[in-house]
Amino acid sequence: MSLDEKTIQQYDVDCLLHSWSVQGKTPRPVIARAEGIYLYDTGGKRYYDMSSQAMNVNIGHGNQKVIQAVKDQMDNFASIGVGWATSVRSELAKKLLDISSDNMGKVFFTLGGAEANENALKIARMYTGRAKVFSRYRAYHGGTSGAGHLTGEPRRFPNEIAGSAGFIKFFDPYVYRDNLGFDSDAEASAYYLKALRQQIIFENPGNVAAVFVETVTGSNGIIIPPDGYLQGLRTLCDEFGILLVCDEVMAGFGRTGQYFAYQNWGIKPDLVTFAKGVTCGYLPVGGVIVDKKIADYFDDHVFSCGLTYTGYAAGCAAGVATLAVYEEENLIQAAVARGRLLGEILEDLKARHKSVGDVRYIGLFSALELVRDKQTREPLVPYGSDPDRLMPKINGALRAKGFCCATHNNNIIVAPPLIITEEELRAAMAILDEVLFTADQWV
Ligand SMILES: Cc1ncc(COP(=O)(O)O)c(C=O)c1O
Repeated sequence: MSLDEKTIQQYDVDCLLHSWSVQGKTPRPVIARAEGIYLYDTGGKRYYDMSSQAMNVNIGHGNQKVIQAVKDQMDNFASIGVGWATSVRSELAKKLLDISSDNMGKVFFTLGGAEANENALKIARMYTGRAKVFSRYRAYHGGTSGAGHLTGEPRRFPNEIAGSAGFIKFFDPYVYRDNLGFDSDAEASAYYLKALRQQIIFENPGNVAAVFVETVTGSNGIIIPPDGYLQGLRTLCDEFGILLVCDEVMAGFGRTGQYFAYQNWGIKPDLVTFAKGVTCGYLPVGGVIVDKKIADYFDDHVFSCGLTYTGYAAGCAAGVATLAVYEEENLIQAAVARGRLLGEILEDLKARHKSVGDVRYIGLFSALELVRDKQTREPLVPYGSDPDRLMPKINGALRAKGFCCATHNNNIIVAPPLIITEEELRAAMAILDEVLFTADQWV
């Protein structure tokens, strides 16, 4: 049965619960198809997918190689239990280790990012025998219980109704917003790490299992750590025998111009969580990559993690094919090259628009931070609230002109598929330029 547009919208409002929002009755546009960097609604309107959906469709929509690989696997078998070895599961695990830092030993597969963090949390506690975990305020690690507690922004609050013992939050190295006048990255890194070290000591380091960080903070505004911060964090964790967990669910798979964002700073995390870009939404797959010493530990200790669909065969087939696409189409290098152009365009927007206080970018992972006053850096909307619904208005204006993207707090996130061409990037960003004049009027 294929439904008509009105019925689809009606069922969408009447029958579905939608994430992270008061439900409302506004009908959503209906997507008819997606191809490359474009989405098309049922009215034939075309949209640039400028945040790759949820920053996951890195290779773009409709990639026939991945689709065929999934079909081929489905023809064989879609899923197989954990009592069997399978070609695609073994191959994907091996490929993920090949693109990781050389300390990495094994992979545990999940179906998404929250589950990846959920299991990383458990692995860290099993390995260290310690209970507490540190994570940052401006972080999102997933919507399930443990991942929800790791999350620092307001989406964690519903979890805390049942308490949140052992989940300690610390501040992000948010240099622009903190506005402390650092002269260098080294000075900024030292400042944030000194505060964290103190906090760890006050929490009893002997009971801290792990520090979780989004290597580059994603949905909360593309907060890029100053150089030296992650290297110093690695040293700090080592000092106290604490595991360093890099959440690469959003920042991984070429987004920042490296397979994993941590590779931009040459660090070796103990655990890496991933999802999104490993299969780019063709099927859901996530997981945890663990350091060799942790993998070895489970040679003679029970690995108490499990899922019916761990290493789901059709998903792994999508993963193997997706990784081949990154390689064959040189998408990691493309992210660096297009990212350079994106950076130039963003700097130009910042120079010309009163409402753009800061632009942050690494590879094709970027944000424009909107402000009321460039001098004071007062955000366009207060943290965690938007009484005049200014950000949805901006988002609506962008969408009306065919530019789809994510916004969060006072940030517009621009993270297009890595296959975007120079011409497409310029054309899409011209739409953003136009709409920013509206935001300028509110300043
Ligand atoms: C950094 C990060 N970690 C974890 C998650 C959760 O992933 P999922 O939605 O697949 O559960 C997300 C989702 O956006 C994310 O951005």
